[in-house]
Amino acid sequence: MREEILSLKNQAISQIHLAKTAEELEEIRINYLGRSGKLTQLFKNLSSEQIDEKKLNGLLLNEAKATLTTSIASRKNSLKESARDWFDPTIPGIKPTIGHLHLITQAIDEIAKTFIQIGFVRVRYPEVEWDWFAFEGLNMPKDHPARDEWETFFITSAPDPKFGQMVLTPHTSSGQIREMKRVKIPPIRMINIAKCYRRQIDTSHVPMFHQFEGLVVDKDISIVNLKGTLDYFARNFFGKERITRLRPFHFQFTEPSFEVDVSCGICRGRGCKLCKEGWLELGGAGMVHPTVLKNGGVDPDKYSGFAFGWGVERTFMMKAGLSIPDIRLLYSSDLRFLKQF
Ligand code: FA5
Repeated sequence: MREEILSLKNQAISQIHLAKTAEELEEIRINYLGRSGKLTQLFKNLSSEQIDEKKLNGLLLNEAKATLTTSIASRKNSLKESARDWFDPTIPGIKPTIGHLHLITQAIDEIAKTFIQIGFVRVRYPEVEWDWFAFEGLNMPKDHPARDEWETFFITSAPDPKFGQMVLTPHTSSGQIREMKRVKIPPIRMINIAKCYRRQIDTSHVPMFHQFEGLVVDKDISIVNLKGTLDYFARNFFGKERITRLRPFHFQFTEPSFEVDVSCGICRGRGCKLCKEGWLELGGAGMVHPTVLKNGGVDPDKYSGFAFGWGVERTFMMKAGLSIPDIRLLYSSDLRFLKQF
């Protein structure tokens, strides 16, 4: 039996090496190790042997079986590596990475939709603008101290005799006069969302940011219309239970002027480390100054209007549940941060 075991083993090993497919290997396995395989048959014959022979041949048979089993497995693996079309359906697939719009683009779309729903028209005006539209037409003549707050980037081109120097728009309010001149006869319901630029950078300021500016001009427009629009926005953008409040303020282009606050979404008015006694500051608003209406070609004796202008980034950061400690994170291109939105 000893010679027979060794000869079957060698025969099987050479067949395993010559095998080209997994099916051939399976056939070899069945032929030698299957129920009626050649080696299996010898296992069965052991019982009729003398005790010493039985022991030795038993060892040889077990060793032959183990060698053939590992040889078949390793040949199978080497066939897998070389076979290009081999497919293992049990291996988990590679998930394709899916991108999404930047969170500020998402916020801009949401803000635009919210206002378009109540009849506002989205417009865009030049990012490189004349001084006259950004300041002078908004009741801020040259050398007026109010201009300092806008920390403006000036373009070093020759000034226009009528419109002055060119600037990078420091706020979307420059769109107010342009919209009045475009529409000519009210009603006007404008939502102007655009990039703005200021020489500022710290945890709550970036040199390039976005503002959205609302302007409504018509007959009999009052503060009640302004407050109603602000509350509508707060409910739709921040959540049903959020409300706004107006605090007296000063802007050259609105009279009266206000700072608008929205109730804090975290503490719901009780006061927490994110807010000031339950309120978060949103931005400016007011009734359009008669001089600005006149500069836009609108008769202030017939028409009145309100305007508001807020930062998209800060408004987005005030959404309930968000606690973003530094505005610069929004533009850091850090995917670990951006993937969360
Ligand atoms: C203005 O720019 C006024 N034009 C707003 C306005 C419009 C008032 C219409 C009345 C009527 P202010 O400078 O406060 O106001 O800026 C408004 C908002 O822009 C701020 O509350 C803030 O949210 C955002 N903002 C201003 N500067 C920056 C900056 N450097 N980085 C990020 N956001 C900024």
